[in-house]
Amino acid sequence: MKWRLLVKRWKEGWEKPRYQEYVVEADADTSVLDALEKAWLGDNTLVFEHACHHGVCGACGMVINGVERLACITRLGDVAVGNTVVVEPLRGFPVISDLAVDKSRMFRASARVSPETLEPVEGEGGELPGRASLRPEKLLSCLECGICYSACPIARTMEDYMGPAALALASKTLSLTGDWSRVSDALGRGGVWSCHAALECSVRCPAGFDPGGLIMVLRGKALKRMLGGGR
Ligand code: SF4
Ligand code: FES
Repeated sequence: MKWRLLVKRWKEGWEKPRYQEYVVEADADTSVLDALEKAWLGDNTLVFEHACHHGVCGACGMVINGVERLACITRLGDVAVGNTVVVEPLRGFPVISDLAVDKSRMFRASARVSPETLEPVEGEGGELPGRASLRPEKLLSCLECGICYSACPIARTMEDYMGPAALALASKTLSLTGDWSRVSDALGRGGVWSCHAALECSVRCPAGFDPGGLIMVLRGKALKRMLGGGR
């Protein structure tokens, strides 16, 4: 059947964004990403990001019919209104071109908490006491897709808010290390106290990572510590 993709486009030098229609032939099981690739075959000026095509790399986060999703694991038939699918870039990040956004605020905020992300490794590192049980990793199951920033009403409007993924990283880092000095930025301006607990981040997170819940855990620990009941 025929699907109508309405893609929000903007490129450097354009005064304002505009919506462009692409009509693609596909079945209902086709992913939005595959449909965009079909559109791209007829217009290779259309810019969007992707890599793995199966919900692992986090590159293809977009707003699809008003909701943040990974385009590669979103089927046309599940989201279309009639035969129309509106595709827009993630919110809360500067647009680079069309659907590609600059997610560096998320990476910068994560680096303020922890230059490397930590994950305990059983039975490794006996020769490196002190760091023995830790190794640099991505934030456990976080895909760094940026969907939580786009879904969060605070991250969308407050530029210096560290944002859900970075604050979740702070929460995990404290749980793993017990080192409060590593999370001092997360307890300052733009940190956990700026969260309004909308929890849209956790609802939309495609990895089921629950950044909002982790922010609440860090906030609870910080409050307890301030009141003299925590380490
Ligand atoms: S916490 Fe979830 S929504 Fe946020 S960047 Fe990580 S995987 Fe994406
Ligand atoms: S292309 Fe990797 S998550 Fe979609």
